[in-house]
Amino acid sequence: MAGLAFDTIRDPARWIAEGTPARALPAARTGQEGRPAAGTVRFEALSKTYRSAAGEVRALDSIDLEIPAGAIFGIIGRSGAGKSTLLRAVNRLEEPTSGRVLIDGAPIAALDTDGLVALRRRIGMIFQHFNLLSAKTVRQNVALPLVVAGVPRAEIGPRVDEALRLVGLEAKAETYPSRLSGGQKQRVGIARALVSRPEILLCDEATSALDPETTLSILSLLRDINRRLGITIVLITHEMSVIREACSHVLVLEAGRIAETGPVWRVFGAPEHHATRALLEPLTRGLPEDLAARLRPHPAPGAATVLRITYSGREAPDLSALAAAAAAPVRLLQAGIERIQGHAVGRMLVAVAAAGADPGVEDRVRALGGVVERIGYVATDD
Ligand SMILES: Nc1ncnc2c1ncn2[C@@H]1O[C@H](COP(=O)(O)OP(=O)(O)OP(=O)(O)O)[C@@H](O)[C@H]1O
Ligand SMILES: [Mg+2]
Repeated sequence: MAGLAFDTIRDPARWIAEGTPARALPAARTGQEGRPAAGTVRFEALSKTYRSAAGEVRALDSIDLEIPAGAIFGIIGRSGAGKSTLLRAVNRLEEPTSGRVLIDGAPIAALDTDGLVALRRRIGMIFQHFNLLSAKTVRQNVALPLVVAGVPRAEIGPRVDEALRLVGLEAKAETYPSRLSGGQKQRVGIARALVSRPEILLCDEATSALDPETTLSILSLLRDINRRLGITIVLITHEMSVIREACSHVLVLEAGRIAETGPVWRVFGAPEHHATRALLEPLTRGLPEDLAARLRPHPAPGAATVLRITYSGREAPDLSALAAAAAAPVRLLQAGIERIQGHAVGRMLVAVAAAGADPGVEDRVRALGGVVERIGYVATDD
């Protein structure tokens, strides 16, 4: 899309929906008379099947889910899991095969053309490849949704200035996209999405083209926008660190279904589904190589028991309580505890000496909190 002049865009309504919504929104975000707050997205038994000559693909299968207003909601899953399809159902870039999507309690399938245009103005979208017009300046790119929506000229200038200020790009207003870094281009994309003052911002792999440092700065910008404007952000990523850094909630999709969902600290702290564990593996680190080589499935006389303890609680584990529960010398093999949203989340590998014959050790350690797995045994003398 980058490089197109606006008049060559064949379907402006769709183009706007994909990157450039428009017009102001009511600022109220509190649900009144039992109605959900502005920015609430609800999927009810949502299914999508793509049909082509090659056959059928069930991209989404009975998704029931609510994205609370004001959340930063991350969607993860393997390639082809249905992430983009779900995101694009929010502004009806994809029409579901069955089930429905409700925004602030109202089903969006019922909207006529005008209603759909109005809905898309309430929903901003940013992309991996920015979708900026190269022949237009930063200011013109950001102004475009307002121009298309017929917002009076006198209003556009201040609105664009406001959006550029939000993303820290005031100084680049007259610059062309080709002279911007990737991070700056994405800031323009974000400003263009925000200029319409949306209540929901959809991000499909918005940081995937950026280096780690720039990714962090864009994530901190998104968090800031979420906090200051109260916008609901729905974010697809393949980087678990993005979820950990930015999101309040996470959904794990697997083959079009919900594998698990919940607050990030809970899902990442104690992943229940194998898909989540597989996705998290790079983040949580596997066993150290030397230990993996020494690990035995059965206890030998005198062997130490290796326990993996996964925590997600308010407080980090109490080590003296751990030693007392083990009732034997405990050696720390590897540990990493981080704080996510006020919770201690992480994993410890410990070796409990000569506990092979003590089947109760796991239960006693488990009673302290956390998920405890006996992963094997190591002889103490090798
Ligand atoms: N327009 C389409 N026609 C046919 N099949 C499609 C179409 N769009 C998506 N699919 C299929 O639907 C499934 C879900 O696709 P989707 O793009 O939602 O996955 P995704 O989770 O976003 O993957 P990725 O991480 O690779 O972006 C995939 O099997 C994909 O091949
Ligand atoms: Mg995708």
